[in-house]
Amino acid sequence: MNPVSYEIVAQIGVISVNNPPVNALSQAVRSGIQSTVRAAQTDSSKAILIICEGNTFFAGADISEFGKPPQVPYLPDLINEIEASGKLVIAAMHGMALGGGLELALGCHYRIALDSARVGLPEVKLGLLPGAGGTQRVPRLIGIPTTLQLILGGTPMPAVAAAEAGLIDSIVSGDLREAALEFVRTLVARHAPLRRSSELEVADIDPQVFADARAEMSRSARGQTAPLRIIESVRASSLPFAAGQQRERELFVECMRDPQSAALRHLFFAEREAARIKDLPRSIETRRINQVAIIGAGTMGGGIAMCFANAGFDVTLLEVSAGTLARGLAIVEKNYAGSVQRGKLDEQEALACRARIQGTTDYAALADADLVIEAVFEDPQLKKEVFAKLDTVCKSGAILATNTSYQDVDAIAATTRRAADVIGMHFFSPAHIMKLLEVVRGKKTADDVLATVMALGKRIGKVPVMSGVCYGFIGNRMLQGYFREAQLCLIEGSTPQAIDTALYDWGMAMGPISVADLAGLDVGYKARQALAESQRGDPRSYRVPDVLVEMGRLGQKSGAGFYRYDAVTRARSDDAEVMQIVEREAHAMGIRRRPIAADEIVERLIFALINEGMNILDEGIAQRPGDIDVVYTYGYGFPSWRGGPMYYADTVGLNYVIERIEEFRKRLHANNWQPAALLKSLVAKNSSLARWAE
Ligand code: 3HC
Ligand code: NAI
Repeated sequence: MNPVSYEIVAQIGVISVNNPPVNALSQAVRSGIQSTVRAAQTDSSKAILIICEGNTFFAGADISEFGKPPQVPYLPDLINEIEASGKLVIAAMHGMALGGGLELALGCHYRIALDSARVGLPEVKLGLLPGAGGTQRVPRLIGIPTTLQLILGGTPMPAVAAAEAGLIDSIVSGDLREAALEFVRTLVARHAPLRRSSELEVADIDPQVFADARAEMSRSARGQTAPLRIIESVRASSLPFAAGQQRERELFVECMRDPQSAALRHLFFAEREAARIKDLPRSIETRRINQVAIIGAGTMGGGIAMCFANAGFDVTLLEVSAGTLARGLAIVEKNYAGSVQRGKLDEQEALACRARIQGTTDYAALADADLVIEAVFEDPQLKKEVFAKLDTVCKSGAILATNTSYQDVDAIAATTRRAADVIGMHFFSPAHIMKLLEVVRGKKTADDVLATVMALGKRIGKVPVMSGVCYGFIGNRMLQGYFREAQLCLIEGSTPQAIDTALYDWGMAMGPISVADLAGLDVGYKARQALAESQRGDPRSYRVPDVLVEMGRLGQKSGAGFYRYDAVTRARSDDAEVMQIVEREAHAMGIRRRPIAADEIVERLIFALINEGMNILDEGIAQRPGDIDVVYTYGYGFPSWRGGPMYYADTVGLNYVIERIEEFRKRLHANNWQPAALLKSLVAKNSSLARWAE
């Protein structure tokens, strides 16, 4: 079916585009618009209106065409042709006008939008720049500083703000088509000029603005190449339009060829694919969720309550005593104050959200809950007791979820008479901020419970990824080898600072030693104590942390762990005492310390992640390699421009990964480095994870 249709309505040529789901500017759409605009030049229409059907205006270029040979008409040429039209062309926007979609609107002579619309240039999130005139027309319309904010931030802005800035001419509510036709009639009646943004001059070019932007991006977008190319392209808007557009084109092609963009595009599709459960039909009916209850108002429970309250749900927060409840609610209040301070919510919104959270100490208050999420201490016995109690008080059909980090969801479900209603919802700390949600499917979890929780995750603004049941699920299970290697590098010869720097410079949001200090060294210590010695793994990997905990050095919360922390600023400093402990323990264990290069540190940690990821795929714990990539980039600070650990494995080559693992096995600790069976079989077939996942 042709996605572009045309009719003349009271002397206005109306081009309607219908290319579900998001009206991406595919080749068929571009070509349809081009031929229609050309034909309209000589028909009886007095002006041309471009409008989209469905939920949204154009959400951008068609990302699925990227990486393939480009097909004519190219978007920048089409937009230039629209701008050169001898008849007025007007864009009418609703939903989202993103990337190439907004660029097309900016090539039109006038723009009208619904008040609920949002416009933006999110290309940076795909490692790209707005390559269809965006870096040239936007500065001409709204000046350099606002342009840089819009394009480097990549976050869409409300149409009303865009109109105030100068990107949109008219904001309307109600029926867009009717309002747009009226708008065009008025323009025609007053012989409005053909306003071409390419003919404007860029105002106030201050070189300092570009220097500041570069400095800011090297901090906030560390390691990424697209932001610097964006700044250069916007800077080229000081040239005559054609020359600026030529520079934009060159820089766009550079971005497109950059492996960073391929990695980010992989993640874009991986995130959407992760939402789909392979063995569930898309149409499965979900359960209605209105009332939500959370058990435990600690670090996680309070944050989870905020997620639901922020999404408009009524939340009951249950604690063991009035005292612990008051403490939990006070933290929630403090977090809301923080959200207001950071500009995430305004004061009224924060008050309204806070008002949706009711505290209680009475299990009877859970009788009407449609969903209960348990977030009590990580104690398997306690969790089982809580679930047994929920089984007696909750209504039939309520979904019972646990936020456990490690415990066996099936064993928890078995303490109820309704295992089909039990599921894991593993949020990440701080729960009201972190986007990842691991949804843990138990052996008996009902299909509609799983589908409901996956959909609910998206509704509360999370990125849900399904995991099967195993110790630590996808993310924390993979972390074990990563942390083990960090500790082994430390005792074998490195320092906390050298290990953190190696991983940070490679792109991780935080080094592993700092992460351990932040999470609290006592957490791992307690988990180890609960295990038999034979289950604790390589003793060399936990000797130093055990000593630190036994000295009362629990990490940031006690002011000292692997580092020291300033009581007021929390600033981190190295601690000679820790190095004395490391050296003493290494000596006691017969380890001869040696210098370890940053490359070796990075490969040991990252290849340990990858190897365990392979096991997780082989066991069916994760549905696809892309799901693991989404978990690591959203939940563990893995650099998105490297595409996630499994994508990264393919980019360095599985041959290389196994070669290094074999080398570590021979040279380091054989037990720690058993290459995963899936890795071996893919290497034997000279294959890749991407091919395996097809
Ligand atoms: N191209 C191709 N497919 C796209 C697409 C695009 N630009 N945007 C979304 N889709 C697809 C998704 O893959 C998904 O497909 P699926 O159902 O098969 O998984 C479907 O549309 C729906 O997408 P979402 O699940 O994300 O739906 P939401 O309603 O949650 O969000 C959206 C809609 C806000 C439009 C979001 O999809 C989005 O942000 N899309 C990307 C927008 C973007 O980055 N545009 C710039 C593209 S680059 C460009 O224009 C270059 C130019 O400057 C030259
Ligand atoms: P926490 O110690 O901060 O809070 C636990 C809360 O549960 C306390 O306020 C306690 O009073 C309350 N509680 C204990 N027994 C209760 C009962 N019977 N009924 C009602 N409330 C009870 O613990 P945290 O960190 O919030 O962890 C909770 C769960 O979330 C654990 O299973 C943990 O593994 C998991 N988790 C923790 C993360 C973290 O980073 N802290 C991240 C992801 C999951």
